[in-house]
Amino acid sequence: MADQTQRAGTTPQVPCARGGVPLLGHLRQLLADPTGFLMSLPSYGDLVEIRLGTRRTLVVCGPELVSQVLVKDHRPFDKGGPFFENVAEFFGNGLATCPDAVHTRLRRLTQPVFRREQLAGYSDLVGREIEAVTGSWREGQVLDVYQVMQELAMRITVSTMFASWFSGSQAGSGAVRETLGHVDTLVSGAFVRMVAPGAARLPLPSNRRYEQARGALYGKIEETVAAYRRGGQDRGDLLSRLMAHDEGSKDTLSDTEIRDQVMTMFIAGIGTTAAMLAWSLHYLSLDGDLDAEVAREAKAASSGPVALHDDLTRLPTLDKAVAETFRIRPAAWMFSRVTVTETVLGGYRIPAGSDVLISPYILHHRPDLFTDPDRFDPQRWDDVSADWARAERAAMMIPFGTGFRKCIGRDFSVMNITLTLASILKTWKLTPATTAPVTLQGRSIIEPRGLALRLQRRQFPLPRQGEAVTPR
Ligand code: HEM
Repeated sequence: MADQTQRAGTTPQVPCARGGVPLLGHLRQLLADPTGFLMSLPSYGDLVEIRLGTRRTLVVCGPELVSQVLVKDHRPFDKGGPFFENVAEFFGNGLATCPDAVHTRLRRLTQPVFRREQLAGYSDLVGREIEAVTGSWREGQVLDVYQVMQELAMRITVSTMFASWFSGSQAGSGAVRETLGHVDTLVSGAFVRMVAPGAARLPLPSNRRYEQARGALYGKIEETVAAYRRGGQDRGDLLSRLMAHDEGSKDTLSDTEIRDQVMTMFIAGIGTTAAMLAWSLHYLSLDGDLDAEVAREAKAASSGPVALHDDLTRLPTLDKAVAETFRIRPAAWMFSRVTVTETVLGGYRIPAGSDVLISPYILHHRPDLFTDPDRFDPQRWDDVSADWARAERAAMMIPFGTGFRKCIGRDFSVMNITLTLASILKTWKLTPATTAPVTLQGRSIIEPRGLALRLQRRQFPLPRQGEAVTPR
């Protein structure tokens, strides 16, 4: 494809998706039916132009081109574009939004806290929060699953970062709800800024709430960082690791840089983890046999009230279900880049300053990459870690991105999700509480809407597939 430009002797135009209208471009389609619109794009080719408002954006739809942009020839494609540039302002010098030029240093200074050997240490804090949330659940209760998972994901992310935030004087649902409200305001605001950047400058109440939420979180994080500096002890959490690593090194993160990394991790980690937990529970609630197998496995693997880090190697069925959820509902369904030099992509000459959008959702739903892609089928993942790694290398399965800007929290968040699901499912069976369909809403992340599940305490032994259920 690459030499098509030369062969033709002219510069071919990237095909433009149909249905764009003046001023709004394709925004209406993207907001009204995000996944339907995205899945119409590969029919134009591996590179297609859409317009977000008046802004031209190139959507990369094929795995080879995605691999070129993120891995093989990434230099012309820096962080930026519609998804990142309008949120960069509140991430400051955060790892997820910073330009490539400063990324290497920040990644070197933050990576050690997410090393595999550190993860076991955080899992006790994860267990504490799972117990805090599930401890009050009652037989027959109907959960607004996404809301509960948001609280749980937020508690896990905040507590693993700052072990003390929700304990002691700050314990109680008031502090949790307040922080969750701030994070939700920022995540919603980020999506508005992405699709309608001009709206962020208007004197709207939503923009004031956004500024207040940012100010409140900044203040709280700065206060906590200062207290850690004064206290000096290791609290076994991410912030202690970030600072311990800092000490003795010539190059260290300033307090403002630490604040920006913490803020980034809150925004990048909470909504995504909540959505993946909720989608996993949704799919398991629809498949009684799979759900029973996962529950049996979790019960056998873990003897305590919640699953522990050591139990993780004994949950193969759950691992497959989690991988399949990441394929079918990749929470981070799109992210962007901007070209910093002129380049050639898919045979098209792309000028510097072009916006480029990558959508894991498109790749994961291409029928030429995954048979029957809309079917939830954990059996696709025979040997999960090997199959997933292979699919990621081929840029077919990239829920955490790929290449040098791949999600730093990948293993941490898969651990948290697996521990949470194992802990819940060994004790509770969740079944749909209504017949109303669960729908998908696309904001910065793709979230389930209308997911109400009823709790039922498990009775073991559970019947195996095809076995008759004997009433007790
Ligand atoms: C289900 C959970 C998660 C999903 C689906 C997810 C997804 C992603 C994706 C797709 C990227 C790459 C974006 C790009 O290339 O432009 C990314 C980057 C990143 N994620 Fe996550 N993430 C998750 C959880 C987390 C958690 C728990 C944290 C931190 C506590 C985190 C922190 C980050 C950071 C800092 C980056 C930027 C990495 C870099 O540029 O070096 N994420 N994430």
